[in-house]
Amino acid sequence: MTINEIYERSAVLKNAINIDLIYPSRKNETLFGGLAPMSSQNSPEAMGHLIQKKPYYLSAGDEIKLFEAAFAARIPVMLKGPTGCGKTRFVEYMSYRLNRPLITVACHEDLFASDLLGRYLLKKDETVWVDGSLTQAVRMGAICYLDEIVEARKDTTVVIHPLTDNRRTLSIDKKGEIVQAHPDFMMVISYNPGYQSVLKDLKQSTRQRFISLEFDYPEAQKEAEIVSHEGDIDIETALKLVTLAGKIRNIREHGLTEGASTRLLIYAAQIIGRGVPVHEACRSAICFPLTDDARLQETLNDLVEDIF
Ligand SMILES: Nc1ncnc2c1ncn2[C@@H]1O[C@H](COP(=O)(O)OP(=O)(O)OP(=O)(O)O)[C@@H](O)[C@H]1O
Ligand SMILES: [Mg+2]
Repeated sequence: MTINEIYERSAVLKNAINIDLIYPSRKNETLFGGLAPMSSQNSPEAMGHLIQKKPYYLSAGDEIKLFEAAFAARIPVMLKGPTGCGKTRFVEYMSYRLNRPLITVACHEDLFASDLLGRYLLKKDETVWVDGSLTQAVRMGAICYLDEIVEARKDTTVVIHPLTDNRRTLSIDKKGEIVQAHPDFMMVISYNPGYQSVLKDLKQSTRQRFISLEFDYPEAQKEAEIVSHEGDIDIETALKLVTLAGKIRNIREHGLTEGASTRLLIYAAQIIGRGVPVHEACRSAICFPLTDDARLQETLNDLVEDIF
């Protein structure tokens, strides 16, 4: 059955909720049970998701090798680590390195499976199917990066499971279609174990479908190099910012939920480079974002005074 025939079925109108993009080229796809054709990796859709410029990425260990091995073996990858330590940058870098399109989905509690899969939309008096981000990635052979997966609603796991085991299929119930993943499709998820709670944790059946790469703040010299590069600041100041972060990360047990991220150090560097005095920059970019607790702020302030 083609989409054209489906248009005539009034039942699908119930699913039509909006007017948006249409893909006329998909009108002749086989639906209800047939395996959908895969779009070429050179399709305009895929090309639009290719990263054109090499992202700056400083490797911390053997994560590049591991990711490449996982990609070659078509095994999905899970990135674990605190906020602002380089997970997203790493995925962008790998996507460039492997020359695969990258589709990123920021997961949140209002993200429905239909946002990933797609939905019927109304176009004038026609109903058309529009692929969601995950379906697009599965068809074009992209790397699909589901950021902060624990935030997603539970129904998304139902969608992910058949895709992340040896079946590599995506089932689109609303359309009655099963899509076989493009051979180059890869699923990458990330999550921050620091935010783990009983309510928000990955089930073992989900975890045990992924190879896991542990991320952390880079070691001091490397982190200073990153801060200097990304914050466009001299290496000496970058090293001091990293020293400050090191001390803050050490007092984490005393009330801070998470240490100062590499991202915050880069922010500090960027505003120092634009003329903000160092102490003020450290307070605004590093101390204040970390906590509202006045006593902790005092401690952080003392650390800034000690170092600069
Ligand atoms: N190894 C690295 N090489 C190059 N840049 C890095 C590296 N690690 C961190 N950065 C810099 O730190 C910034 C923050 O990193 P990124 O956005 O990748 O963090 P993240 O781990 O994805 O955080 P979140 O969990 O909050 O999404 C990047 O924009 C980049 O400038
Ligand atoms: Mg990120």
